[in-house]
Amino acid sequence: MGLFPATRLRRLRQHDWTRRLVQENALTANDLIWSVVITDQDTPEPIAAMPGVERLTLKGLAKAAKEAEALGIPALAIFPHIDPAKKDEDGAEAVNRDGLIPNAIRTIKEAAPNLGVICDVALDPFTTHGHDGVLDGETIDNDATIERLIEQALVQAEAGCDVCAPSDMMDGRIGAIREALEFEGHYNTMILSYAAKYASGFYGPYREAIGSAAALKGDKKTYQMNPGNAAEALREVELDIAEGADMVMVKPGLPYLDIVRLLADNFDIPVFAFQVSGEYAMIEAAAANGWIDGERCMLESLLAFKRAGASGIVTYYARRAAMALGS
Ligand code: PBG
Repeated sequence: MGLFPATRLRRLRQHDWTRRLVQENALTANDLIWSVVITDQDTPEPIAAMPGVERLTLKGLAKAAKEAEALGIPALAIFPHIDPAKKDEDGAEAVNRDGLIPNAIRTIKEAAPNLGVICDVALDPFTTHGHDGVLDGETIDNDATIERLIEQALVQAEAGCDVCAPSDMMDGRIGAIREALEFEGHYNTMILSYAAKYASGFYGPYREAIGSAAALKGDKKTYQMNPGNAAEALREVELDIAEGADMVMVKPGLPYLDIVRLLADNFDIPVFAFQVSGEYAMIEAAAANGWIDGERCMLESLLAFKRAGASGIVTYYARRAAMALGS
C-alpha cells in the first residue's frame, strides 16, 4: 500500500479546484512591503537598471502611499537618493530633522495614516564614500557608527516612522538603538533588524538607484556577511533578538532562501526577506527580452519566500504583485 498505482500524486493536481484546495502556501497583499526610492529633486527620475521603478518625488510618494493603502499593502520601506552636494564623510544629512526621510515619513502619514512606514538605518545614502558607517582611515568604525545610527533612528522615530530597520551590520547596534528609543519614550517604535545581510553583488542596481554606486570605495565585506556562511546567521539573529529586535530580515532574498528557512525553523520571531534590486533587475531583463513571462515569474518568486517560511517580503514589485493578486 502507498505505492503506485494505489498512490498517484497527479490525482490531486488534475483540477483547478483540487490544486487550490491542497495548496500549502499562498501569497497575499498582506505579505508585501513595498520598497520605494525617493528623491529630493522636483521631478521623478528613472533608474536605468530597474525598469518600471523610478525615484519618486514627495508628491509621487503621497500618491504611491494612497495606492498601497488601497491595495491592502501593509507598509512602505523608503530609500533616499540624496543630492550629492549634501553628502559628507560622516553622513551628517542622515540626522537632519528636516531632511528627505523625515519629510517623506510625514508625507506618507498624511496621505495614508494606516500605512506602516519602515526606514533604513544606515549611512550609505548620505556618505561621500558610500559606506554604511563612518570611516577611521580605511576601516568602518563600528562604535562611532553606532552613535550616528542612534541619532538617525531617533530622528526617524520623532518624524513618525513605525519601524526602524538597521541595515548597516554593525555589531551591537540593535541594543543601542533599542535603548535610545526606550529612553526617549519611543517604546512602540519597532525594530526590523537586517540580521542576516550578505555582502552581495545583487545590490548593484540599488546603488545606482540611491546614487552611491560611483561613490563606493572598496566593498562591504568587513561588515556584511560572507555568502558562504549559514551558521553565522543563527548567531546574528540570536544576538539581535537578545538586543530587542522585533523582526529580522534576510537579504538578498531568492539566493538565500535556505537562510530564510533556517531562521524560520530556529526562531519564533517574524522573518522577512528582501527581494533586492538585482533580483528585480534579473526578472525584468529576462522578461523584456521575451525569455520569461515576467508576471508569472514575479509571483512565483514571491510565493517561494512564503514557502521558505518568510512572514513577508520587501519588494519593488509590491504594487504590481498586489494588483496581479487582484486585491
Ligand atoms: C544599505 C542598503 C543596501 C540595500 C538596502 N540598504 C545596499 C548595500 O548594502 O550596499 C540594498 C537594496 C537593494 O539592493 O534592493 N544600507
